[in-house]
Amino acid sequence: MKRNQLLRLSAAVLFMGGLLSGLDSTAYDNTRWGAGYFPNVELTTQDGTKVHFYDDLIKGKMVVIELIYTRCVDACPLETARLAQVQRMLGDRVGKEIFFYSISIDPEQDTPKVLKEYAEKYHAGPGWLFLTGKKDDIDLISQKLGLYAPPNDRNRDGHTPAVVIGNEVTGQWMRNSATDNPRFLAILIGDWMNSWKNRQAETPKSYADASVLKIADKGQYIFATHCAACHTIGHGDKIGPDLRGVTSLRDRAWLARFIARPDQMIAEGDPVATELFKKYKQVNMPDLRLADEDIHALIDYMQNQTETAAPEPASGAHP
Ligand code: HEC
Repeated sequence: MKRNQLLRLSAAVLFMGGLLSGLDSTAYDNTRWGAGYFPNVELTTQDGTKVHFYDDLIKGKMVVIELIYTRCVDACPLETARLAQVQRMLGDRVGKEIFFYSISIDPEQDTPKVLKEYAEKYHAGPGWLFLTGKKDDIDLISQKLGLYAPPNDRNRDGHTPAVVIGNEVTGQWMRNSATDNPRFLAILIGDWMNSWKNRQAETPKSYADASVLKIADKGQYIFATHCAACHTIGHGDKIGPDLRGVTSLRDRAWLARFIARPDQMIAEGDPVATELFKKYKQVNMPDLRLADEDIHALIDYMQNQTETAAPEPASGAHP
């Protein structure tokens, strides 16, 4: 009996040993992304708390990191709105096992106070920090995460609209488009990145399973992927205004110009654009660089949705 137990125990130890050496080599492969890799620089949260990048934000955690700046008129508003959708899908796991960080690359402008207002505008929940710090430190983080890109015509501000998703414990890190289907991102973050802990995560989910879209109508598709993070048609204001009836409120040429270059219309002092901008002052309608035909498909879709929507719009904002 005793001998039997001993044998089983040693078999188990051997087995564990095998496993551990297996893990060891994976760990070795990933040391590049460990303590020595990430700078432990000091950052400040939207509540004014000082934190250290590696020790407080990365070590032992599953994280989602994006670079933003609140004056951004390109991709970051959509990026952040998407993450807000992902956060809602992941529910209270955010703040317990998964942490979201939006780090400003314009720290002079983005003080903790500015970031706090920005976070509120996007209904960012607990477990999502908006961080600022010294420019050099943030540049270093951005380079280490592979999110730095030199400014050029298509990319005016030197930042990549991507999120870095990582699990410091398992050493899995990947970069993903921040403007991807939010359900896909939520599955990726919640299941795949966590598979080491949640082994039962049965059959791998594919992008097809994750898709919530029936790609029937081009306008519908573009609306779902580019606009729905901020707008509804007939279901109340979100981050941006409810677009129900907007096709009769504004003329088509104005809409097409506004959707194409909202920042330019504001810069030119267009009265409607200026008024809208004042009302929604913490969030800019982003310049999404859509092609003309996509914009017209969108306008047709908004018009069509307004006509087929229920007669009474749902009251009140729903985040
Ligand atoms: C990150 C959030 C965000 C995204 C994404 C976004 N918008 Fe907006 N949108 C806004 C905000 C905020 C406003 C209010 C005006 C402003 O602040 O510039 C606005 C205003 C508008 C208006 C003007 C409404 C009016 O009363 O005239 C239209 C039209 C519009 N958006 C269409 C779209 C379409 C179409 C898309 C997708 C291609 C889109 N938006 C994507 C946030 C967003």
